[in-house]
Amino acid sequence: MNKRFLTILIVALTGMLFLTVGALTATEKQAVPDEVTLKNKGYKKDKKGSVKLSHKKHNVDYKIACTECHHVFKDGKNVWKEGDHVDKCSKCHDPKKKKDKTLKLQNAYHKNCKNCHKALLKEDKPTGPFKKCNKCHAKKKK
Ligand code: HEC
Ligand code: HEC
Ligand code: HEC
Ligand code: HEC
Repeated sequence: MNKRFLTILIVALTGMLFLTVGALTATEKQAVPDEVTLKNKGYKKDKKGSVKLSHKKHNVDYKIACTECHHVFKDGKNVWKEGDHVDKCSKCHDPKKKKDKTLKLQNAYHKNCKNCHKALLKEDKPTGPFKKCNKCHAKKKK
């Protein structure tokens, strides 16, 4: 191996190192999605089709605070704040069973989505669906 080759090799390796570090830090910053399609795996029976959530509309147009849906509980208090990392609901809510006080995944979604929609109807405010399954669930693909 001559000297020139070694220099090129070192430059190339250093460049690759920077690229890797750059890519890693870029994935750290989470994008806030305009729309979310919920299609989790691991349910006992996957009976229903996926659910689309107009994520941005809920926040911007319907003025629903992030903390209505995102939480990290510490001593019974929600300590999550905007800008913090967002984990999938399934990270804490198990699709198969309730764990201690933590709801089963399906119930966590239903309670979050439907309870708000229902409560708003009671207040005579514009709201989303909670009775008709297919207003949220797409037709299931075989
Ligand atoms: C406000 C919207 C909304 C309505 C209305 C709704 N669901 Fe859901 N449901 C969800 C969301 C969100 C999930 C999570 C989807 C996922 O993880 O794939 C879910 C998950 C489920 C699951 C578990 C996942 C699966 O495919 O097996 C079942 C079963 C289910 N819903 C049944 C129903 C039934 C029955 C109705 C009507 C009585 C209904 N849902 C109405 C939002 C809704
Ligand atoms: C109406 C409920 C709701 C509101 C309001 C809401 N979100 Fe979400 N958000 C969700 C759901 C549900 C998901 C999908 C979670 C999953 O896949 O398990 C999600 C996903 C995300 C993700 C992507 C997480 C990933 O896995 O990539 C980010 C980031 C996020 N939300 C940030 C925010 C911020 C910031 C706000 C307020 C400006 C906000 N959300 C408001 C329900 C909501
Ligand atoms: C970091 C873990 C974690 C994540 C991520 C998480 N949850 Fe939870 N969630 C919990 C815990 C723990 C509780 C029980 C809190 C208590 O009552 O002590 C809870 C409670 C709930 C409740 C019941 C609250 C009430 O008012 O009764 C709902 C509904 C819920 N979660 C929905 C969701 C949804 C929807 C998502 C995703 C957008 C989500 N959770 C993400 C840990 C989490
Ligand atoms: C804290 C209150 C709140 C929560 C939580 C919430 N929504 Fe809504 N949602 C609304 C309001 C308010 C509207 C309608 C406002 C309007 O039409 O002006 C709405 C409308 C909708 C609509 C019909 C219009 C559209 O934008 O698609 C769907 C579908 C819907 N929500 C799905 C969901 C799902 C799925 C979840 C749970 C992952 C959820 N929502 C959680 C308040 C909420």
